[in-house]
Amino acid sequence: MRATIGSDHAGVETRAAAASLLRERGFEVEEHGPADAESVDYPDISHRVAADVASGAASVGVLICGTGQGMAMAANRHLGIRAAVVTDEFTCKMARAHNDANLACFGERVIGTEKAIELLGVFLDTEFEGGRHRRRVEKIDRTPSEG
Ligand code: RB5
Repeated sequence: MRATIGSDHAGVETRAAAASLLRERGFEVEEHGPADAESVDYPDISHRVAADVASGAASVGVLICGTGQGMAMAANRHLGIRAAVVTDEFTCKMARAHNDANLACFGERVIGTEKAIELLGVFLDTEFEGGRHRRRVEKIDRTPSEG
């Protein structure tokens, strides 16, 4: 099991804690991002993590920045990526159960490290429900002209 994780300077603390949780859960973890508060551009990190998931090199991805938003916007440009900004338990469960999210984005400046780690546990523990949700998820990657 492989996971890929990245953060910009606003998410370094949460990235370290999330990498530890993923390793505890048995994942081999690929980390991207600065070691300290060195300022970097979040899309550079997001594209690397999204590419790892989109190629199948990793089964799950985690991205952290100040809000989680910029990371998700960049990651969702990759075909096959379903990146969800996760801020609360219900959104987190639904992102997995209904949307089959394969990348979780957290905002360290919004929810803090402790909450992000709690939600990452929920994300990892929640299975995709399939059924009618599979049909809907498959439509995400279709262009509007494909119907
Ligand atoms: C960096 O200051 C901040 O803009 C970034 O971490 C993130 O919140 C962008 O979405």
